[in-house]
Amino acid sequence: MQLIVVLQFLIPLAAAFNARRSALTDCLNAASVPILLTSSPSWQGATKPYNLRLTVNPAVVTIPRTKAEVEEALKCAYSTNTRVSAKSGGHSYSASGLSGNMVMDMVEFQEVSYDASTTIATVGSGVRLGNMATKLFQLGERGIPHGTCSGVGIGGHATLGGFGLDSRLWGLTLDTITSIDAVLANGTAVTASSSQNRDLFWALRGAGPGFAVVTSFKMKTFPAPPVNVNWAYTYVYSTAQKAAKAYSIAQAFGQTDAPKELGYGILFFPGNQFIVRGVYYGPKANMDRILAPLLEQLTSLNDGKAPKAVVNTQGWIASLTELDGTTLQTLVRGYDKHDTFYAKSITTKESAPLSLTALNSMFAYLYTNPAPPNTWWMIISNLYGGPGSVINSFPPSTDPASTSSYADRDSGYVLQFYGSTASTRPPFNNQIMTYVKSMVGSLGDEVKNLPAYAPYNDPELTRAEAQQKYWGAGVPRLKAIKSQVDPKGILYNPQGF
Ligand SMILES: Cc1cc2nc3c(=O)[nH]c(=O)nc-3n(C[C@H](O)[C@H](O)[C@H](O)COP(=O)(O)OP(=O)(O)OC[C@H]3O[C@@H](n4cnc5c(N)ncnc54)[C@H](O)[C@@H]3O)c2cc1C
Ligand SMILES: *[C@@H]1O[C@H](CO)[C@@H](O)[C@H](O)[C@H]1NC(C)=O
Repeated sequence: MQLIVVLQFLIPLAAAFNARRSALTDCLNAASVPILLTSSPSWQGATKPYNLRLTVNPAVVTIPRTKAEVEEALKCAYSTNTRVSAKSGGHSYSASGLSGNMVMDMVEFQEVSYDASTTIATVGSGVRLGNMATKLFQLGERGIPHGTCSGVGIGGHATLGGFGLDSRLWGLTLDTITSIDAVLANGTAVTASSSQNRDLFWALRGAGPGFAVVTSFKMKTFPAPPVNVNWAYTYVYSTAQKAAKAYSIAQAFGQTDAPKELGYGILFFPGNQFIVRGVYYGPKANMDRILAPLLEQLTSLNDGKAPKAVVNTQGWIASLTELDGTTLQTLVRGYDKHDTFYAKSITTKESAPLSLTALNSMFAYLYTNPAPPNTWWMIISNLYGGPGSVINSFPPSTDPASTSSYADRDSGYVLQFYGSTASTRPPFNNQIMTYVKSMVGSLGDEVKNLPAYAPYNDPELTRAEAQQKYWGAGVPRLKAIKSQVDPKGILYNPQGF
């Protein structure tokens, strides 16, 4: 009942916004919060999504410099019923950081500091992952688990998930958070932790966007491993049946034989390239011993033909740089990398790996149906579960002891199906989207109701579908918390709360 009232309220909020625009900008100007308007020279750059497939339409961008300015700007939005989206790295798959009438760009929040006595880091919510990793290593040879793309922002990463090949060893990015400084929709500053504002802490760690604007995180850090082996072995199987069998073998190996020091994934790329790859956080001789039985099986399935191997043993920063593919440090302002893409994800249960029937069907589809012209596509299956995985060591989000709304603590793999223009630039051909959907569809009914990974958000899902797939049984509690902390629906996330 309460929910229906809230949703009815949200619709006129957007429709009537134009009439309230000058009230908002007057309020922001009176508070001296820096703003950009559509007429500003830097407007284009400030509102360009990472994913150029999408168009966005904000009216105002605020660039608060302090937490006090975040409070002031939110009070202005609150008093004028303006929808707000925070923006950190801008890498949302659905451009959700640019979905509000007012975008709050967190670019001024660039603190990265490290307290050697507690080994806790403080990270401003506008920091990009590569810059964070570089600084933490400089400060104390420390690391935090996180994704591979250095341009991703911590604001959207740590509030939704944050998977890296080190996540089975250390957890998701959000699992490292010990405390969050944030501002509520009505401009009230709060701190959330397992002992303070516990409901909000739970919501912000998994379903964050829509509950508060985070200004900074306190996070556990880990000693950066001195020896890291980035490894990849590529096979090309002659038939779909062999590829399906190979996937099945590789899937089982990860779940039963990959120690948590082995970051592990199964990739499938155009040209029927079947790749197992990851990072081993330890000496290469140990890794070779662990991978030998897997490679033996995969090679024998390939009529004895050895894989193409790329194996690099290196330090922490070099390993992260190789994963990113270019450079670890990125521009704080003026970052301008993009892609033009559509993606879907599914999360398998550790107790129910993909069946050989489903895999045969998917590889039959891939081997016989070429992608539309000028398309790049890939399927990435990353191991989240398996022996000793820290990701799965936390209680489910519905457990009274849980401090995180991240839903999937019993996962096997997260699969991502990704299709983009070959040039990375627009125009986007909608047949690419159809192709991505067909890849997932080819797995059949057994994946239909599986959860999905919120950071790879799929704007083709309705809000209700997205909530169910991303937060599952945690949805009712998230709705209840939303109605407490943001009853007017000021903080906007089209697929969240
Ligand atoms: C090239 C690429 C590689 C990726 N690789 C990985 C990977 O390896 N592992 C992985 O787990 N994910 C990965 N992702 C997904 C990534 O984690 C998500 O897209 C993430 O949400 C992006 O965060 P952002 O801050 O850059 O994006 P934004 O678009 O700025 O924000 C995303 C969402 O978070 C909200 N938000 C941002 N800042 C705040 C804040 N301060 N307070 C409250 N809400 C906020 C926004 O409103 C928006 O809803 C990748 C994405 C891309 C594009
Ligand atoms: C702001 O919202 C919070 C959560 O709903 C509430 O506890 C607080 O009293 C509000 N503050 C003001 C000034 O209205």
